[in-house]
Amino acid sequence: MSSQSFHQEIDPSLLPKHIAVIMDGNGRWAKARGKARMFGHKAGVDAVRKTVSAANRLGIQVLTLFAFSSENWRRPEEEVSLLMELFVTVLGREVKRLHKNGVKLKVIGDTTRFSQSLQDKIAAAEALTANNTGLVLNVAANYGGQWDIMQAVKKLAAQVERGEIPAGQLTEGDLQVHLSCSGLPDVDLMIRTSGECRISNFMLWQAAYAELYFTEQFWPDFDETSLTDAIAWFINRERRFGCTGEQIKAMLQVEK
Ligand code: IPE
Ligand code: IPE
Ligand code: MG
Repeated sequence: MSSQSFHQEIDPSLLPKHIAVIMDGNGRWAKARGKARMFGHKAGVDAVRKTVSAANRLGIQVLTLFAFSSENWRRPEEEVSLLMELFVTVLGREVKRLHKNGVKLKVIGDTTRFSQSLQDKIAAAEALTANNTGLVLNVAANYGGQWDIMQAVKKLAAQVERGEIPAGQLTEGDLQVHLSCSGLPDVDLMIRTSGECRISNFMLWQAAYAELYFTEQFWPDFDETSLTDAIAWFINRERRFGCTGEQIKAMLQVEK
């Protein structure tokens, strides 16, 4: 279904506010075609473009895409360096279009390990799009959920050390403000492609109550229809947040 017709049929208040995607299966997609893994990563960029524009058209508030994990450095050196080159090229090529479409781009993760030129490109792209009010697009690069929590803990510990907050009074909210996605809604829907059913250290805190959607499709095949299928599935889930199903039904009755 196109996002246009999907949008007309769906009550916008039912849409997930924050969608996070583990874009997996580029290597296997390429292998199935007798090609090198890099061919799959390049095809994956087209799927990113389709997904971002569909999410923006649908009025999704936040889309977080897992592009490179803190564990992906373990891959063969050649694949890692070609992936870095691909990031630089794609950033340079796509940022104007994103800006034109009102997308606010943010790279989350430990970017200090990237080359200076890539760090500069990231900073320029973030600055250019900083005031945009459309889709917030977080690209998770050298990201790990444990890293995210740890870097937040370090900032919080420094606050405690300075005597700003007594350790005994710390709340979840005090940690949350230091996390990568602070100020944004938690992940409602997490999608993983390629048939793998694991989280691979992605958004560990922010996805505490996310609905998890696993599809067999490899990432390069993911498109607007795949996204609307995932959202339609999400809309039919009953989210309970610890309550009973009966309580949720009663609450929905009151809202009607
Ligand atoms: C996801 O595809 C992209 C990255 C992790 C950069 P993979 O490269 O993991 O593809 P598979 O899992 O080997 O098929
Ligand atoms: C997760 O995919 C990371 C990204 C999609 C960037 P991987 O393919 O690296 O995950 P594992 O190692 O198979 O769990
Ligand atoms: Mg993989």
